[in-house]
Amino acid sequence: MITEFEKIDTENINNEIIEKAARILQKGGLVAFPTETVYGLGANGLNADACRKIYEAKGRPSDNPLILHIGDISQLKSIVSDVPKKAQKIIDAFWPGPVTIVFKKSEIVPSAVSGGLDTVAVRFPSNKTARLIINAAGVPVAAPSANTSGKPSPTKAGHVLHDMDGKIDMIVDGGSCAVGLESTIVDVTGDVPALLRPGAVTKEMLERVIGEISVDPAVYKMLSKDQKPKAPGMKYKHYSPDADVTLVTGSEKNVIDKINALCMQDKKNGLKTGVLCREKNTDKYKADFVLSAGDNIETAGARLFDILREFDTLKADKVYSEVFDESGEGLAVMNRLKKAAGHKFIEA
Ligand code: TXA
Ligand code: MG
Repeated sequence: MITEFEKIDTENINNEIIEKAARILQKGGLVAFPTETVYGLGANGLNADACRKIYEAKGRPSDNPLILHIGDISQLKSIVSDVPKKAQKIIDAFWPGPVTIVFKKSEIVPSAVSGGLDTVAVRFPSNKTARLIINAAGVPVAAPSANTSGKPSPTKAGHVLHDMDGKIDMIVDGGSCAVGLESTIVDVTGDVPALLRPGAVTKEMLERVIGEISVDPAVYKMLSKDQKPKAPGMKYKHYSPDADVTLVTGSEKNVIDKINALCMQDKKNGLKTGVLCREKNTDKYKADFVLSAGDNIETAGARLFDILREFDTLKADKVYSEVFDESGEGLAVMNRLKKAAGHKFIEA
């Protein structure tokens, strides 16, 4: 298959590109498109055969359900069986935007989308290109992150091309994703709303709007074999570059000294080393490659997946990372970093 690649000028959107993407979706094809979180790999969400192609292109396990994306709030009522009060509050406060809500599904949602569950995850993205494509297609669009299963989510069109070239019909390049981490997922089908995946709409922000929410244990730590996260995708190894990633905790000075000692040792063994750190610490490390996460947690979130992919391009064997405070968006950044590291920590 030849993958068409079209660059969109987000200041002056070319409607021909939008229409082309919409036609491919209507015919049951696959289109990767930008959102404010990460690039999505879209298919007509009401067409089971089209959705099955997503699993194939990504190499994704079929029990891992897809998020349905809507381009207008009026699309919601056909795909869910009801909208609980707390869900409405989240919608009013944060949609369109980077939060996904899990509802009881309606009958028209195919099980190829819901992974056999009686619920459906719905997201209304704020990204303009995404909304134009979904609305032009005229159907809810099922879209996981547009990466090969297990790899870091794509935050640039080049990441999508790397993973999906020849496997999908079209890639729409809308530049870098502003948030850079996948959407927050909140399940409102139980008595107490549950945070299944942290993102840029933080636990604190949600609590201000709907009160107490529980946090699925999979958000903080690796679950044992017999435990099941409520978002099926949280059980899979994720976000991992080829390099072996280790998180290093402790006081700033101890972390820097420890990582430099580890890098020296690795170099003696002929290994290429990488460090992911705060901007202000970049010149304190002696690794082969030192990549900056910026000065604040939002920049760290926006750059994280690009940095993990960059270590692959550079062929780093060992990567050491500083850690971040788990409040606010830090919970989402640390959730992805811990997974990239296979939950490997060293205390300095
Ligand atoms: O930001 C995002 O959410 C991106 C962009 C493209 O919108 N999409 C995304 O999709 O991250 P994906 O498929 O990579 O991750 C969706 C997660 C998976 O962990 C999946 O198990 C979970 O959502 N999920 C989907 N439907 C669910 C449901 N009905 N109940 C619980 N978890 C669900
Ligand atoms: Mg994903």
